[in-house]
Amino acid sequence: MVLVRVVLVGFGSVGRSLAKLIAYKGFYVRDRFNVDIRVVGVVDSRGMAFKVGGFDGLELLKLANLPRSSVSQFTPYAVDYVDLNMLYDTVNPDVHVELTPSNYESGAPSLGNVMLALRRGAHVVTASKAPLVLAYDEVMGLARSRGLRVRFSATVMGGSPFVKVLEGMRSHEVVEVEGILNATTNFILTLMEDELVEFEEALRRAQLLGVAEANPDLDINGVDAAAKLVIISNILGKPVKLDNVRRVSLATVKLKDVITSIKENQTIKYVAKLDLKRGEAAVEPRRVKRDDTMAQVKGTLNMARIRSDVGDYVFIGKGGGGLETAHTVLNDIIEVAEVMVAGGGSG
Ligand code: HSE
Repeated sequence: MVLVRVVLVGFGSVGRSLAKLIAYKGFYVRDRFNVDIRVVGVVDSRGMAFKVGGFDGLELLKLANLPRSSVSQFTPYAVDYVDLNMLYDTVNPDVHVELTPSNYESGAPSLGNVMLALRRGAHVVTASKAPLVLAYDEVMGLARSRGLRVRFSATVMGGSPFVKVLEGMRSHEVVEVEGILNATTNFILTLMEDELVEFEEALRRAQLLGVAEANPDLDINGVDAAAKLVIISNILGKPVKLDNVRRVSLATVKLKDVITSIKENQTIKYVAKLDLKRGEAAVEPRRVKRDDTMAQVKGTLNMARIRSDVGDYVFIGKGGGGLETAHTVLNDIIEVAEVMVAGGGSG
């Protein structure tokens, strides 16, 4: 049995779902994989709760049910400040799980947190995209030099194991990845088309789902999908930069455009495309014929068509969602644990 001490940094929708998931499925993971996951620390924007021996299932459920940004109220285990070095000195985690929102300008806090974790000798599982989008080589280089793993399956199509699919294509020459990589905007377009509501009303309802970014402009303006293209390009060894992804905002799509496309037997989709031959990438609204697979992908589902020298592959799965994404993160934690047993790491 391998004991894995985990800190959860960021405690929003995915973090809370993960705490519940570990409470409910911890026994199953122990039985099936011989991995004993102990959450030794939980951090939100205002405070930290930690327990050297790890929180038990009931404590995890209580933490997950606190009001947002209230981890500091979890007495007697909490403090009302955030100091990751102090947390690391106290609980010495094996795995750092980064779940804070992405800021693509400063990278704060997730990039700094991930670098700190690696410097302090912890493996990293991140659902936060910014560290990889802004500093993929630095993060992976630091991990390699320390013999540590960085897993990030939840950064693209977070509710599905899509990153694993791409990683399983090392021997293919992928020339293009095209599809729907943002759940919030696909949900908005689906609502506009199915219920003929205006963009603003659809956005309001999308935000209630808890799938939108903390700053939903990142979804609407295509930055989130562009960030995912950047991560995909890095996985495939042909990196593009975020600033070089051409973007057209979804806010340019009006209800009248949706109605016109319906009349012409088409649908509007917010399409992300990475052309690996040309090194070009774009995120833009596009009309798609009704009989195209992409047209069938509705709500918070995502889809990617991967074109390669061997042939085309289509993957459809949940783009986000707290519980679905928490499953993807948990899989990464188990994978890291398996590497710990084997006694190695890197990348
Ligand atoms: N805001 C993102 C989306 C969450 O809507 O797809 C998952 O990355």
